[in-house]
Amino acid sequence: VDARILALHKAAAAREDVLGLAGGLPADELLPQAKLATALAEVAASGADALQYGWPEGDEALRVWIASRLAARGAPVEPRRVIVTAGAQQALALAGESLRGARIAVGDATYPSALSAFVAAGAQVVCDRGAARYAIAGVSNPHGIELASRDELLAGSEVLIVDEAYAELRFDRRTPRPLVGDAPDRVWHIGTISKTLCPGLRVGWLVPPASAHAAVLERKQAADLQTASLSQAALVRLLARVDYDALLDRARQFYAERCERLVDAVRRHLPEVRFAEPEGGFSIWLETDETGDDVALLEAAIANGVSFDPGSAFRHALVDRIAMRLSFSNAPTAKLDEAARRLARTLTRWRRQPRAA
Ligand SMILES: Cc1ncc(COP(=O)(O)O)c(C=O)c1O
Repeated sequence: VDARILALHKAAAAREDVLGLAGGLPADELLPQAKLATALAEVAASGADALQYGWPEGDEALRVWIASRLAARGAPVEPRRVIVTAGAQQALALAGESLRGARIAVGDATYPSALSAFVAAGAQVVCDRGAARYAIAGVSNPHGIELASRDELLAGSEVLIVDEAYAELRFDRRTPRPLVGDAPDRVWHIGTISKTLCPGLRVGWLVPPASAHAAVLERKQAADLQTASLSQAALVRLLARVDYDALLDRARQFYAERCERLVDAVRRHLPEVRFAEPEGGFSIWLETDETGDDVALLEAAIANGVSFDPGSAFRHALVDRIAMRLSFSNAPTAKLDEAARRLARTLTRWRRQPRAA
C-alpha cells in the first residue's frame, strides 16, 4: 500500500473532526467486547495451554469448527486440511508464495493488500487471464457486489484463490456454497473471523489443495511458528458461547442499514458518480469522470473533514478516471450524510482547480 496513503490515513485518524470512510473496519458496536474479555481472562487462567506454544496447523477445536461451518454450507472439508493463519492476510501471502512466478489474474480492482501480498511473494499480478485467479466470493472488496458467480469461476481451469472475507455478510443472507467443495484440487480457500467477529485476534484460515498442504505448513512454520495460541483459545471459548448465525444476522442487518444511509447520501450529494448498490460487505465503490492524482484528492478531502480509500490502491493497472472506495461499516450512521456532503464539496473544488495534464 502506497506510503503516502498510509501517512494520510494515520494523520486523519488522529483528528476528531475527520469523518472516516476509509479502511475495511467492522463496526466497533459489533465487536463482542464483554464476551471476549471474559473468554480471554478465562483461558489465560485455566492452565498453560493458551499461554504455551501450539502446533503450526492451529488449535484442533478451532479447525473442527471451521470445517463444520464449511460442511454446513455444503462443502465438506476434513479438519486436518485446515491451517489456522494470522488472519486471511497470511493465507493470501502463503497462497502467493506457493504460486511464485505464476500469473495471478486479479480483475480491474481488488483488495489492495492481496495485490501487495502476491507481488511480495513473487507472483506476477495481471488484470485479465492467468494460470491462477484471485476471487473474493459473495461480496467483492471494493465493489460491494458479487463480481463472478460460482459457475463462472468453476468454468475455467485456473487455480482459484478464493477469499471469503465477506462471503457471510451478504445482506440477502444468500451465502454462496464454498468453491472448495467443488474443486478441492485447484481451490485455495481463505476465510477469516476479522469481519464478523474481531480483526484484533488476527485469526483466519487457509485450506490449500491437498498436494500443497505439507509445503504450505512448512512455510507457515518458517514465517511465525504458529498463529497466536491465546487468540485461538479465546476464540474457541467465545464460539462455544455465542450463536454465530444469530450474530451474522445482526451484523447483516446493521451493515445493511448503514449502507442504505450512505447510498442515500451519495445519491443526494454526488448525483454524478456511478456505483453499484452494495449487496453486502462494508463499502461502496464510486467511479467518477474526474482525473488527476487521487492521493492529492484524498489530501484535499481530509482538509475538508472526510477520508476515503483512493481507487488507485485497488488497481494493478493505471486507470485515468478517479475511483473511490467509501466504507460505511465503521462510520457513525448519523454522520454519513455529512460525510458525503463534505466529499461533494471536495469534488466541486477539485474540478475548479487548475491541474497539470
Ligand atoms: C477481501 C479481504 N481479504 C482479506 C482481508 C484481510 O483480513 P484479515 O484481517 O483476516 O487478515 C481483508 C481485510 O480488509 C479483505 O478485505
